[in-house]
Amino acid sequence: MNKIKIAAPATIANLVCGFDVLGLALNEPQDIMELAFSDVPGLRISHTDGYSLPVAPEKNVAGAALLALMEELSDPVGFDLTITKCIKPGSGLGSSAASSAGAVVAANILLDNRFSKTDLVRFAMNGEKVASGVKHADNIAPCIFGGVTLIRSILPLDIVQLNAPQLYVTVVHPQIEVKTSDARQILRKEVQLKSAIKQWGNIAGLVAGFMKADYALIGRSLEDVIIEPVRSILIPGFAEVKQRCTEAGALGGGISGSGPSIFMLNENKETAYVVETIMKDVYENLGIDYKTYVTTVNNHGVSIIS
Ligand code: HSE
Repeated sequence: MNKIKIAAPATIANLVCGFDVLGLALNEPQDIMELAFSDVPGLRISHTDGYSLPVAPEKNVAGAALLALMEELSDPVGFDLTITKCIKPGSGLGSSAASSAGAVVAANILLDNRFSKTDLVRFAMNGEKVASGVKHADNIAPCIFGGVTLIRSILPLDIVQLNAPQLYVTVVHPQIEVKTSDARQILRKEVQLKSAIKQWGNIAGLVAGFMKADYALIGRSLEDVIIEPVRSILIPGFAEVKQRCTEAGALGGGISGSGPSIFMLNENKETAYVVETIMKDVYENLGIDYKTYVTTVNNHGVSIIS
């Protein structure tokens, strides 16, 4: 195999209460990437989309991830990478993770799967470092493993795949940009014990809800008393979307990753579309451009197109 074309899914990090430790992969949207061996050692990157992202490998998130992988190869190799982004950078839908994860999964297939999935997460975290200044794996792990993942630890990496029941996910992406680095900067560095108790109760409840397919428990646990009160200020319409969507029957939801996208989990498809109508109504009324998705959990992660 000399070249490969893959699709790398969008992801929702944090899942409301699990800042930096929980994430899930979506079936829509997905980035498309093509990676080919080259006789010329080193890495060359091109973009076929309209985004003016850097193409110097060490400044490009996919490039930084691939360089980390290439450093662990005994022989020098050459790669040409072409990226077509469909997940808008700065959307809160794991755009940088899709690029980083997609690149290393593609390389690993061309290299006859010599690295484990956990190794690939480790390489891809270098892309997140370029994007936001911090290595976090809550977008990368679900992008590579699929489904819902728990990052119990990043040093050393300890990733737990969680079973989850059928869920319909509605997402609205108001067309404003929130940089992850800015959204991290504004967070308080200390947490009160009573908030921490609520938060770890919710994380445990959410994990148990997924494993037991207990929709009511999932809904009750989608509560964030630490991050959301601070970050939601950056997202116009957030409180209205959340309130109206939960009143309409969504299980719950909140900020996707560091925002500005907002997601809602739903037990059935009909509710997911009602929720989409509400999201559209909120942003029409606010006069803010938006994009919506009604999708499901992607259980396989990065996939081969050809
Ligand atoms: N856990 C990260 C954050 C995800 O919320 O900053 C960024 O997509």
